[in-house]
Amino acid sequence: MSTLLSDTPGNEELQDQPQGAPCDLPPEAHSDLEFSRRTFVKAAGILSAGVASGLPRVAAAEKARIAATTAPQTVSLTLKINGKQQALTVDTRTTLLDALREYLGLTGTKKGCDHGQCGACTVLIDGHRVNSCLTLAAVAQGAEITTIEGLAHGDELHPVQAAFLEHDGFQCGYCTPGQICSAVALLEECRRGDLSTVSWQTGQTTSPQLSEQEIRERMSGNICRCAAYPNIVAAVRAAAQGARS
Ligand code: FES
Ligand code: FES
Repeated sequence: MSTLLSDTPGNEELQDQPQGAPCDLPPEAHSDLEFSRRTFVKAAGILSAGVASGLPRVAAAEKARIAATTAPQTVSLTLKINGKQQALTVDTRTTLLDALREYLGLTGTKKGCDHGQCGACTVLIDGHRVNSCLTLAAVAQGAEITTIEGLAHGDELHPVQAAFLEHDGFQCGYCTPGQICSAVALLEECRRGDLSTVSWQTGQTTSPQLSEQEIRERMSGNICRCAAYPNIVAAVRAAAQGARS
């Protein structure tokens, strides 16, 4: 290195500098620099020791906080399903769909998307159609819940069930319980005079007639992967006519 420096023109000054001392600084500046370097090293040591000893405590506190907020909380419920009171204890986050299927063995109600998009999980709560996958079981306490299992009277099918059979309103049948529950509520909505977008578009502002367009609009929350729609519409129309006659 020194050979290299001495061989380089103009580097004579550099060779005269004491080894390890910063260039061109007055002596008092060196001691200041030394002081601040020492102070820095000491402070860094203290800081890292503090961080090292404090970290496990912070991590443990965070772990405890997460455990407290995610620990399962259970609730004891009594749900009135198909006219029967059913007691069950579930995680507070349990949906009505899971309560029906996993806790009460009522597997007629189907899980399709579990996101409120397909209608396979439709049940009736106080006569209104709801997606049970989007309804907490705890919220349904005190209401009358009707599932596909509760529509028939013994061996006598509900008129909507009979119409689906008669008109072949299904293929694989997976969406059918939801379709039927939805259609049962639809007939009641029509009887009450509830309007749909199609009612407004066709100028029916009082008692809407269940045309094919009306039925398709009102059943649009129930998807059928087998595309049995023409027969579903025929079944709903027949059930509506039967309900009127
Ligand atoms: S399972 Fe509930 S809407 Fe699809
Ligand atoms: S009958 Fe198969 S999904 Fe509707």
